[in-house]
Amino acid sequence: MARWLTFELILLLSIFAMTVVLSAPPQVPLQVEVTKPRKLRGRFLQITDLHPDPYYTNHASQSSACHRRKPKKEKQRSNLYGTPFSECDSPLILTNFTLDFLDKHWASELDFVIWTGDNARHDNDRKLPRTPSEIYELNRAVASKMEKTFGSKGIPVIPSLGNNDVWRPNSITSEFSSIWKSFIPFPMYQVFQRGGYFHVEVVPNALAVISLNTMYFYDSNKAVGGCGYTDRDDPGNLQFDWLEVQLTMFRERKMQVSHVPPSPGNYFPECYVRYTELALRFQDTIVGHVYGHMNADHFTFVEAVDLQLVAPSQVSGKAELYKDLIEEFSALPKKAKEVNYDNYGVINVSPPVVPNPYVPTFRVFSYNVSEHGEIQGKKRKHRHDRGKHGDKGSECKAEPYKNSWKCHLNGPWHSDPDSPSRRNQRWTPLGYAQYYLPNLENANKSHKPKFKLEYLTFPLSKLHPDGDTVKQKFDYPVPVHHLPRSLQANNVSTSRYAPYELNDLTIGSWVELARRLGNSKESKLRKRFKKLMYLEY
Ligand SMILES: *[C@@H]1O[C@H](CO)[C@@H](O)[C@H](O)[C@H]1NC(C)=O
Ligand SMILES: *[C@@H]1O[C@H](CO)[C@@H](O)[C@H](O)[C@H]1NC(C)=O
Ligand SMILES: *[C@@H]1O[C@H](CO)[C@@H](O)[C@H](O)[C@H]1NC(C)=O
Ligand SMILES: *[C@@H]1O[C@H](CO)[C@@H](O)[C@H](O)[C@H]1NC(C)=O
Repeated sequence: MARWLTFELILLLSIFAMTVVLSAPPQVPLQVEVTKPRKLRGRFLQITDLHPDPYYTNHASQSSACHRRKPKKEKQRSNLYGTPFSECDSPLILTNFTLDFLDKHWASELDFVIWTGDNARHDNDRKLPRTPSEIYELNRAVASKMEKTFGSKGIPVIPSLGNNDVWRPNSITSEFSSIWKSFIPFPMYQVFQRGGYFHVEVVPNALAVISLNTMYFYDSNKAVGGCGYTDRDDPGNLQFDWLEVQLTMFRERKMQVSHVPPSPGNYFPECYVRYTELALRFQDTIVGHVYGHMNADHFTFVEAVDLQLVAPSQVSGKAELYKDLIEEFSALPKKAKEVNYDNYGVINVSPPVVPNPYVPTFRVFSYNVSEHGEIQGKKRKHRHDRGKHGDKGSECKAEPYKNSWKCHLNGPWHSDPDSPSRRNQRWTPLGYAQYYLPNLENANKSHKPKFKLEYLTFPLSKLHPDGDTVKQKFDYPVPVHHLPRSLQANNVSTSRYAPYELNDLTIGSWVELARRLGNSKESKLRKRFKKLMYLEY
């Protein structure tokens, strides 16, 4: 097999932190010698929203953000390891416990770590206002723990900025250039200092992660302009210009990228249009979009219809996320034959570590590291699609559309049914296992909490390749000792741990799952999806 350059990028975007990582395993910028690359395990970790709170106090009242006062009723008191379904942040004993657990049990199983932001407590206690120096101090503490847990072992860590990590948009980047020094590849340093975004080649010359600074797209950020077409110096536009250049370059190098969560409800409308267009234009290069911030487990799509000339559908205030998603999924074509996968990008949103409002979680993705290169598909056909052409011809000449991005994005789309985001091959994400920490209320110093498997996206048949239990452990999507006992033997056919049974995480697999969820007859599946979303146990 010709072993020519196969670059893949994982473009990871977290709602407030888009991270595209492109890195080389020994991720220490100052190191001159290149250490021997680690053997790929085919797994990476996503950890998000730690929200450590140094003021957290055991047995304090939940109404004081778990900071003070011991209430009479036991039910209203905080717990040592964290207080699920409250408004409290994470005690340091919990964030330490989580990272120590990952250090001991998972670090050796991972190729890289995607860490999508929010490493300070919420500013939710009027008696204890959060200061900028506190934000930086907490970030410094978590960063140093991440470096010790992963970076020092040669495991690249790709951080991205969360909305609770920044004080004023302008001061952030110089401070974070120092806090994240060991995570940002030296050649990216200047770019990061200017904009808060960068990329890392996690598998040199093959797979990259792009970390985006979604603060520039976030519609609550009053310091930016919102990607207006005529405002070319807007920080959001400059970031998209940069992203476009990176994607073009990675595509030429045949690398793949994966991303973190845009939605019309979170982004300025024009930023959302540019994000969607790039996601679809580079569908053959991006292997995934990975986000945090929403604190609810779900997935969604960026779609070609979002680029048509219709006023963005009014996001109905704070409608329930679950209902919005089911509505979105129900609008997908009813017949499988009518679905054109070119029109979709999948946005994966991981739940947080902080038990606010649910319980702590982390997610371990598995991806294909087969030695066989990518499938060499037929000559790629590039679509030239930007919504309804007819409409755009006339309507784009006048207001209100004349100066909108929808009327100016004309590049050909690089979608390809044989690319890793569409067909299982080298670098295709295969699935994930999500772990959670239940029963925090019963944990104490002598009875520590225990991480357990919450669910997996895999079909049970994929957990034991070839039905062989003694093969090299790297062939397993989930290390067997990290499976619950009932799944360690290869003899069960159904399990509550496997609600979706997705063969892989290609765009097709997600769209088909969404179409099932969109079908009102699938009430059992819907119920399960909702339970997982809000961790209702
Ligand atoms: C958490 O870990 C840090 C660094 O290892 C340590 O300095 C700190 O004391 C720990 N805090 C708690 C509450 O365990
Ligand atoms: C990885 O991709 C190759 C094709 O390149 C395929 O034969 C193999 O089955 C895939 N591995 C897994 C675990 O899905
Ligand atoms: C710790 O928790 C366990 C289980 O909930 C309980 O049985 C035990 O009494 C607790 N110990 C202390 C010292 O509170
Ligand atoms: C599956 O195999 C395990 C270990 O061999 C055994 O203990 C268990 O009873 C089996 N379960 C079923 C459902 O056959």
